[in-house]
Amino acid sequence: MSSSPSENKNNANSERHFLDYTLRPEKWNEYIGQGSVKENLHILLKAAEERGQSPEHILFYGPPGLGKTTIAHLIARETSSQIKVTSGPAIEKVGDLASLLTNLSAGDILFIDEIHRLSKMIEEILYPAMETGSLDIIIGKGPSARTIQLELSPFTLIAATTRIALLSSPLRARFSGGVFRLEFYNEEEIGQILKRSASLLKIDIDTDAEKEIARRSRATPRTANYLLKRCRDFAQVNKEEKLSKETARKALALLEIDERGLTATDRKTLEIIIEKFGGGPVGLSTLSAATSEETATIEEVHEPYLLQTGMLERTPRGRVATKAAYEHLGLESLQNIQEKLL
Ligand code: ADE
Repeated sequence: MSSSPSENKNNANSERHFLDYTLRPEKWNEYIGQGSVKENLHILLKAAEERGQSPEHILFYGPPGLGKTTIAHLIARETSSQIKVTSGPAIEKVGDLASLLTNLSAGDILFIDEIHRLSKMIEEILYPAMETGSLDIIIGKGPSARTIQLELSPFTLIAATTRIALLSSPLRARFSGGVFRLEFYNEEEIGQILKRSASLLKIDIDTDAEKEIARRSRATPRTANYLLKRCRDFAQVNKEEKLSKETARKALALLEIDERGLTATDRKTLEIIIEKFGGGPVGLSTLSAATSEETATIEEVHEPYLLQTGMLERTPRGRVATKAAYEHLGLESLQNIQEKLL
């Protein structure tokens, strides 16, 4: 099975398995940030519990590493439910979905990651399952084909996607419990996450070092945890007892993570827009060819953070590097040069 571009290109991915099981918050009060999503979920879950029903289906979307899977597990814990985890690309055949659904017990949660990668055919089976709790399967072909309908146990589908725009509107509409966007974290929240992770991993870290890592974490917990571990390695190899700011800076420089958390690829993307395309606008596929990055990787991994920092803008005619991008890269815009010459 091929993995998604976001998985291939996100260097935090190699750590993912480990991070998911060691650093993942296990209780709501350990989950930092995403206040509005948490408040909405508390109401949804409490109301469903009071009625003695399964919560309605929920969709989370947003850039990778912001905690979509973590929240799904917290919901399972909060509702004392079993959670079965799968992903869009893993459900290839109708039978795969049928088997998942028919094996659910009452009150179970089915978590489908990367739901945007489900095929149309599978989506169509999912609709009645989500809406009326029935599984309609067509047996046979042509005139002798017939549909059998299976009653499913009441369940909650929780799905996650980095590409909400790729979901059809009928599918989106069936998440009647809510469609929630996870936001980037602020530096203080990332700092709190780093404190917790450092304590779990028994890393002795200076407050200044923690701030340095927080500032360069792309506002993303998964990246923060990844950088923390790489800085810890650097300190260990250099026989330093405590992770100091200086050591963190050296480790981050070695990883080519700059002061604002941009990676070498983020910078290359901006440089290409500026140097090859006069600052833009440039279309996504042209940018993909020029950077040798897949369009999906640009859209899912690089672009969201560049938009967040204000260094990139999306216009109907393509991507544009902003003044902030020129300033960050230490480049002068044509406009600036012209102003100076006048
Ligand atoms: N680890 C990853 N995401 C987290 C979050 N939102 N809060 C606490 N720890 C986390």
